[in-house]
Amino acid sequence: MSVFLTKFLRNMNSILCVEHNTSRRDLLKVLGALGIAGSLPALSQALQPTKKSLRLAYMTDMHIVSGGRGSDAGIAMTLAHLQKNEKPELILTGGDNLTGTMGQELASAIGMRDRWIKVFRDAHKIPMIHCIGNHDVWGWNKQTSKATGNEALYGKNWSKEQFQMDKLYYSVERGGWKIIVLDTVREFENRYQGGLDDAQFEWLTGEVKTKLPTLVLCHIPVTGISPLLVGAGRLETDFNVPFGSCFRDQHRVVKLFDENKNVKLVLGGHTHFEEELTFNGITYYNGGAVSGAWWRTVEADLERRDKTDGIPRLTRSRNSYSMIDLNADGTFKIDRKLTNWKPQSAS
Ligand SMILES: [Fe+2]
Ligand SMILES: [Fe+2]
Repeated sequence: MSVFLTKFLRNMNSILCVEHNTSRRDLLKVLGALGIAGSLPALSQALQPTKKSLRLAYMTDMHIVSGGRGSDAGIAMTLAHLQKNEKPELILTGGDNLTGTMGQELASAIGMRDRWIKVFRDAHKIPMIHCIGNHDVWGWNKQTSKATGNEALYGKNWSKEQFQMDKLYYSVERGGWKIIVLDTVREFENRYQGGLDDAQFEWLTGEVKTKLPTLVLCHIPVTGISPLLVGAGRLETDFNVPFGSCFRDQHRVVKLFDENKNVKLVLGGHTHFEEELTFNGITYYNGGAVSGAWWRTVEADLERRDKTDGIPRLTRSRNSYSMIDLNADGTFKIDRKLTNWKPQSAS
């Protein structure tokens, strides 16, 4: 192909400024008129977009629950929705696939996990990248779980088995991006706090030194407004930050990202609020929840919580997932998708 012809086709493509297939059709007409239509198949590469893209579905806080709230059907419906309408190349799960595992007896936790495997993990062929949530750890509440701590599945061994993972924090490269998955759940007084231990922070410090645009996947958000709001009922002074809702060590992690501007997008879940915050040029995005208000109507969730402590609560996420297009030049686009799930029970 001559240099002239290549330039001509590129120019035509930008002038037409339309979808690839339409450009090709129009160009066939033009080239036909010029008597060089037969050259088109060999020239089609000139029409390819210069930016590669990876299309992700981000599904966080699916929450298999007990009782009659229909979580299994809701997750199946969400999966069908995104496969039919969005066609992701990859699914990122943001944690909290189960509910209450930390304080449940083992048999009950296993029953819940097996339902999740059936309804989600084994129900599609789309590659997945998992991040664990606080509800994907077994037994830390020893009083209610009756765990001794010596069981093979105790704590995060459970998470490894559930997600079939050797490591709970790791990185992969996909579509010209680096994807860093963090384990954001730290054991604290029979429950948990958000953040990284020193070993993981040191590892992360090495991982962000890359030339690739980088996405960081977390369950508990690094920082944001929603962690403050979700813990508002427990605030006793103006400046108590609820570390069950965000990173205890958010200052050093935000600073690390600030110093490595290849970090473009930091995902979180956990709070069941949707939020997009740009801080020093880095986007911190909370994906709401596939389960919305844990598969209740948001109204029922508000009422239930008001009865618990009498503090007015904010409306949680509607049932949703997010589609994220990652472009190889480091730009991205996020599109939140409501599933319009109708809760089957207000309880
Ligand atoms: Fe959650
Ligand atoms: Fe969570």
